[in-house]
Amino acid sequence: MNAISAFVFDAYGTLFDVNSVAATAEAVAPRQGGFLSQVWRTKQLEYSWLQSIMLSPAAPRDDFAALTEKALDYALSQLTIHADAAARTRLLDAWLGLAPFADAADALASLAPRPRWILSNGTRAMLEPLVAQSSLVAHVDGLMSVDDAGIYKPSPRVYQLAVDRLGLAPGKIGFVSANGWDAAGAKASGFTTFWINRNGLPVERHAAAPDYVLGSLAELAALAP
Ligand code: LAC
Repeated sequence: MNAISAFVFDAYGTLFDVNSVAATAEAVAPRQGGFLSQVWRTKQLEYSWLQSIMLSPAAPRDDFAALTEKALDYALSQLTIHADAAARTRLLDAWLGLAPFADAADALASLAPRPRWILSNGTRAMLEPLVAQSSLVAHVDGLMSVDDAGIYKPSPRVYQLAVDRLGLAPGKIGFVSANGWDAAGAKASGFTTFWINRNGLPVERHAAAPDYVLGSLAELAALAP
């Protein structure tokens, strides 16, 4: 821990609980909210990877707001749910008001005075209100969006944004994500990685394992000297 000079956090699923989208989905589509939000999140990530692989002048990337909308349309269609314009807006707005995990604010506070940044697939227009409305606002030093790299995680170009912005060797940066594939991406770029494995999942097999596997952000805070 002493070797780490700054921390970079993933946003969705790591600091902010994307399960709160399920509550809005349940209100829009009773008894189907859990499945709807699950298909929606899966498609959102799948599209981010597919658009990154397909990226070319003929196939430009959508930003994460547009991509999230397309993933929603897919999920609604798969589940044959009709959502009018107001319901769609309500579902999309849920991403701007996600609740942070209960241990997130204390964990961020305990890592100070090291800089604590967010590096996310989200657009600035999604991330700024999300952080501003939350209890994390006092503990986050800055936001980085993949939009500045023009591609999604886990492209090395995305993780390079943090190296350039913080001006530190990647090994001096602690990268924290609950998404195993995101931790793997950061590890491949040389970061010291902390995978927050809240659900006791197996470690991803396609790349090098994370440096630390923790059950919660509170466990990360406990490591801080
Ligand atoms: C993010 C996604 C990976 O915030 O959760 O970048």
